[in-house]
Amino acid sequence: MKIDLALIGGTGLYAFPGLEEPRRHEVTTRWGAPSAPVVTGMLKDRRVAFLARHGEGHTLTPHRINYRANIAALYELGARRVIGVNAVGGIRADMAPRAIVLPDQLIDYTSGRVSSFCDAEGEAVLHIDFSEPYSANLRAELLAAAQRARIAVIAGGCYGATQGPRLETNAEIERMRRDGCHLVGMTGMPEAALARELGIEYACLALVANWAAGCDPHAAQISMEEIHAHLAAATAQVPPIIAALLET
Ligand code: HPA
Repeated sequence: MKIDLALIGGTGLYAFPGLEEPRRHEVTTRWGAPSAPVVTGMLKDRRVAFLARHGEGHTLTPHRINYRANIAALYELGARRVIGVNAVGGIRADMAPRAIVLPDQLIDYTSGRVSSFCDAEGEAVLHIDFSEPYSANLRAELLAAAQRARIAVIAGGCYGATQGPRLETNAEIERMRRDGCHLVGMTGMPEAALARELGIEYACLALVANWAAGCDPHAAQISMEEIHAHLAAATAQVPPIIAALLET
C-alpha cells in the first residue's frame, strides 16, 4: 500500500478528524504490537495513516510505549514520511502554551528505553547519521503548509526528551535551558532515531501544553485542566496544517 503520510498522535490526538474510508489494521511486528491499530484512510485524495502513540484510550505512559513496534508497523504498511505530534512544555520565552513549534534539534535525556532496531541477534549494526535528527524536507513542507493555512508555527528549536512520566523539577529545566533546550517532552525519543534507522523521513510537530517547570512568567503551578485546554486549542490547528500539506 502506498501511504503518502503517516501521523503519530500524542496526548490529545487519538484519531484523525476528517479521515475518509477509514480502515483499521491490527498489525503485529517482529518487535511486538504497536500502541493501537493503525488507521488508514483518505484525506485530500491522498492515503494517510494514523497511529495513537499512547493507545486509543491513552493507556500507555511514555516509557511503556513500544516505539519500535509503532515505527515498524507504519513502515510495514508502506509509510515513508511520518509526522510525530508531541505535547511539550515550553522553556523558551516565545514558546508559550498553545504555540506550535517545528523543532530542528533534540537532546535525549531518556534512559532505559529500547532505542534501536539494531540490538537484535543477526541485525546489522548501524550508526545512523543523526546530526540533523528531523527531515529538512518534511520540516520545510510543514512550514510552508502552515503558512498557507495561516497558522503560526515557530520554525526551529531544540526538543529535550525526558523520561517521565513525572514532570521535571525547576532545577532540571534550568539545566536543560543551559544545555540549549527550548522545549521539553517525553515522547520525542527514541521515535525520531528509530524512524531514521529505517530511512523514514520524520518531523516533529510540537504543541506547547504548558510552561515547563519554573518557566511561567506568572509563576503559576502547572494544572492538568490548563494543560488540557491549551493542548485542545493547539491540537485543533493540526488538521488544517496537514490538509494544506497534502494539497500540494
Ligand atoms: N514536561 C515534559 N513533558 C511534557 C510537558 C512538560 O512540562 N508538558 C507536556 N509534555
